[in-house]
Amino acid sequence: MIPAILPLLISLTALGSTALAKTDQKLLGPSFTPPSNILSSNVIQQAVLNITNALNNVVRTGESIFGSFSSSTTSFSLTAVSQLDSSPILDFHHTSGSLNISAGSTSKITSDTVYRIGSVSKLFTVYALLLNNGSHHWNSPVTDFIPELKHAAQHPPHDSTVDWVQWDQVTVGALASQLSGIGRDYASGDLAVQNFPWTELGLPILPPQDIPSCGINDDQQPCARNGEYSLERGPFVLLSFIHSSSSIIIIDITTPEYFSGFIQRHPVFPPYGTALYSNAAYRILAYVIEAITGKSYEAVLQKEIFEPLGLKYSSSVPPLGSGAGVIPNGDAGWSRPYGDEVATGGLLSSTKDLAEFGRAIFGNKQLSSMETLRWMKPGSLTSSTALFVGAPWEIVRTRSSIKTGSLVDLYTKSGSVGAYQSLLVLIPDYQVTMAILAAGPDAASALHIATETAIQTLLSALASAAKSESCSKFCGDYSPTAASRDSLLVISTDDGPGLLLKEWTHQGHDLIAAGQAYSNATRGGEIKSLRLLPTGLRSGNRVSYRAIVNITPYQFDPSVDYVFDPQANLWGTPDQLMYGGIAIDDFVFHLDDRGRSAAIEPRVLRVAYQRL
Ligand SMILES: *[C@@H]1O[C@H](CO)[C@@H](O)[C@H](O)[C@H]1NC(C)=O
Ligand SMILES: *[C@@H]1O[C@H](CO)[C@@H](O)[C@H](O)[C@H]1NC(C)=O
Ligand SMILES: *[C@@H]1O[C@H](CO)[C@@H](O)[C@H](O)[C@H]1NC(C)=O
Ligand SMILES: *[C@@H]1O[C@H](CO)[C@@H](O)[C@H](O)[C@H]1NC(C)=O
Repeated sequence: MIPAILPLLISLTALGSTALAKTDQKLLGPSFTPPSNILSSNVIQQAVLNITNALNNVVRTGESIFGSFSSSTTSFSLTAVSQLDSSPILDFHHTSGSLNISAGSTSKITSDTVYRIGSVSKLFTVYALLLNNGSHHWNSPVTDFIPELKHAAQHPPHDSTVDWVQWDQVTVGALASQLSGIGRDYASGDLAVQNFPWTELGLPILPPQDIPSCGINDDQQPCARNGEYSLERGPFVLLSFIHSSSSIIIIDITTPEYFSGFIQRHPVFPPYGTALYSNAAYRILAYVIEAITGKSYEAVLQKEIFEPLGLKYSSSVPPLGSGAGVIPNGDAGWSRPYGDEVATGGLLSSTKDLAEFGRAIFGNKQLSSMETLRWMKPGSLTSSTALFVGAPWEIVRTRSSIKTGSLVDLYTKSGSVGAYQSLLVLIPDYQVTMAILAAGPDAASALHIATETAIQTLLSALASAAKSESCSKFCGDYSPTAASRDSLLVISTDDGPGLLLKEWTHQGHDLIAAGQAYSNATRGGEIKSLRLLPTGLRSGNRVSYRAIVNITPYQFDPSVDYVFDPQANLWGTPDQLMYGGIAIDDFVFHLDDRGRSAAIEPRVLRVAYQRL
């Protein structure tokens, strides 16, 4: 039996111009190789000018279509950089007039100014785990590393998974991927410690032992890892792990600390049930890193990440001396101690350092290409079709021009702590990183406005720069011999993704028509276009591409809704049809010294076509 040429597919043209395509006719990943000459690209220069003007306008008026903010009280920084160029694409800083200079704040913000980065810290925590063999431990239960949790798993006080986390089922990878199902926090932010009349508003009066006595709360110290268990709070007694595991030690009931308190929190979902944001998961991950390395979390970050990558303005405690950081007036939380919560939200950094961290990730400075590709994938869906969760990536799916253009996935991590807001955005398709940090009472809206203002224009310019750079390198006519035109391959670009394989004849035979004849014989549908997409495989001056075939499927009716979207099957088609073991979609470009294509090999033909 002849296999159908391709599973049902629909072409771009069949989608109609009004409906937003649910599925792009390309493989997930870049449509073109990431642009390498970003700084000299006209469209990027124009975009940067437009963004700078728009941001200056927002700072002057406090208004934008994305909301308003007070620029006199709130400062922000935005730096974007390409993997291929250490000079930033975009570097914008706004210094508000309301900074606490006497507390040591800088009076002029630059790309080296230190902000608190809140939960962007989690990205450094997973990175540190991966640098320390974390992927080998990914599926190990956390009880292998944390004696307190091993004990909790072995001595459940309740015979109930509603009351007690199944700690032996919580893996290191589940913690990192926010799939652990454990509670979000312990003590931090507990309403019972906030100065608000909850009991007058109807909540019960709590016995003192139910009110956390530690945490990242006003007038409290962070919870220490090992504290004592309150007898009053449960029908069981915890062993002290510091001392002997066989002796039961009952201590002062007034100071329950981290694990003794946190293990009493109810599970939220079973492990791997659904993605749930947990700060506690990342505090526990830091203990896993310490167990693996035998070093403190802070030492691992300093010695293995900040120092080797030259991140001089990144640290786990605020820098000494005045002028290093931005400290807004009021209760900014700049020098609040984070204790062991540092791994979940206590780090400090600058936009330049965060952008440099993105370059290190894309540049495989410490993690190999394979490890990075494995890391930069979703681990879970969410209830939004535009948001996925990785470890700890918040993966945002958009389009290069918001509603049009091709799909772009942004690998992001956001943070919020005290008066500080943070966002790090890595864009794998263009190998570009953007760091946005804000400080002040309006930090959340400032960050939101600055991000939208910059990224919408930047993404669309990057898409356009990538296409025009690729076309200047690859577009043209190719033939095995300059003398004869009976074999010809023509490459150009259009509105669709990838390089368009516009014509392809070999020794007088139209190979695209041959493909159509085969498609007709196998009810494959009508071929609309052939497009070449980069695969990321490269060896010396040879770079690999695969052709995708856009087809209007046999008997496809675009006015009908389908559960099984025929457009979604494209990923199943590469490498399907072979001729003597070499796939018909297998193409290799040969580059010259300037990175321009000198020849293309349609490998199924066992010949190279030279660029004419
Ligand atoms: C910059 O702004 C001008 C004027 O609004 C617009 O015509 C142009 O397309 C913009 N260019 C980019 C790259 O954003
Ligand atoms: C990584 O972990 C695995 C599994 O525990 C172990 O076999 C291996 O020796 C570790 N490698 C390093 C470099 O520590
Ligand atoms: C500046 O910071 C100090 C603490 O370092 C604080 O006591 C003071 O109130 C702050 N000033 C303002 C204007 O917020
Ligand atoms: C394929 O089928 C279509 C209509 O079914 C026809 O118009 C076209 O000429 C056929 N193409 C080839 C190459 O056989």
